[in-house]
Amino acid sequence: MHSRPSVSGHRFAGIGSFLPLLLLLALFGITLPGCPSNSSNSNEIVIGHFGSMSGSEATFGQSTDNGIKLAIEEVNAAGGINGKKVRLITYDDKGDAREAGTVVTRLVTSDKVTAVLGEVASGLSLAGAPICQENSVPMISPSSTNPKVTKIGDMIFRVCFIDPFQGSVCAKFARGDDLIASRAATLTDQASPYSVGLEEEFEKAFVALGGKMTTKQTYQAGDQDFSAQLTAIRSSGPDVIFIPGYYTDVGNIALQARKLGIKTPMLGGDGWDSSKLGEIAGKALDGCFYSNHYSPEDPNPRVQDYIKKYQAKYNATPDGLAALGYDAARILFEGMKRSKSLAGADIAAELAKTKDFDGVTGKISIDKDRNAVKPAVMLEMRNGKPKFVSTIQPDK
Ligand code: PHE
Repeated sequence: MHSRPSVSGHRFAGIGSFLPLLLLLALFGITLPGCPSNSSNSNEIVIGHFGSMSGSEATFGQSTDNGIKLAIEEVNAAGGINGKKVRLITYDDKGDAREAGTVVTRLVTSDKVTAVLGEVASGLSLAGAPICQENSVPMISPSSTNPKVTKIGDMIFRVCFIDPFQGSVCAKFARGDDLIASRAATLTDQASPYSVGLEEEFEKAFVALGGKMTTKQTYQAGDQDFSAQLTAIRSSGPDVIFIPGYYTDVGNIALQARKLGIKTPMLGGDGWDSSKLGEIAGKALDGCFYSNHYSPEDPNPRVQDYIKKYQAKYNATPDGLAALGYDAARILFEGMKRSKSLAGADIAAELAKTKDFDGVTGKISIDKDRNAVKPAVMLEMRNGKPKFVSTIQPDK
């Protein structure tokens, strides 16, 4: 299912007798036409994507990959990038940090990709980014929101907002007219940089707005029994439970909370964004809210146009990940078109200049920290499906 690098043994079959000559030429840095020194030949640009194509965050990687592929199809149909066609190599990191390191190393050192797209989960972007940075390969995370990701270095970019913003959006929403919460409990995945970071930002903003924390509970991704934490949360008497986790755990938590008779509304961040959330939780999350990067209900023609194209190709409505994957790939292609060469540093210099790019997920400008400053949307689960509630602009 994932494309493999095209340089394989068979390419050199039949030219065995020339091999010593080729090796000699290679020694002097000379390549013969038609004998690329890496997997990119002169007519194509190879880019890499590392994502969770399987495991409990599988929809993150799959949706992102779909978005990227749609962008590639379009750029290639329009003649490619300065005449070169784009080819994608996707590797499954299975949602595992060590695996993410392994596949990014493969992309960068064996496949010699020109640029890397990924990851979704901040913890996995943090595993891949140092490898891209060291090898001067630009990396764009479509959707990792933890501030640390782009701090790895000047080759690392993102096209989404960051968690200090997302946390304050959630805290304001909790304190606002929809929830009128003055007491909040949190339930955090203690091994996830995303979850831990977003909890901190939410708490800071919630307390600054006059709210009070009742209890802070933790879990570990993949846990099956949340009854101890949920019982503690219940006895602390919160008005809202903030759960900055990923969809599989959040769905399971919601089911168990309702079974325990806990009716308190739950609130979360973009990690809830998956068609699987409603499949797992059923109606257990009805009346609960989460912040996200995009809503398919946005009437903006740019958004509706994208949804039409995506539906025609995949027969599904794109989620936020699919939209961000598409935007990340298009921003990369625009940067490559403007770049004076395909060297990593030149592409990165152009990516840094991205300004007012008309993305599906909003206008995207890259700031001096290589982050995007953009609005968020708040969604409400109704009948197991997310419904648009409001758009929240970043502070100027
Ligand atoms: N923002 C999450 C993270 O940094 C990933 C995510 C983005 C998940 C968008 C779902 C939707 O880990």
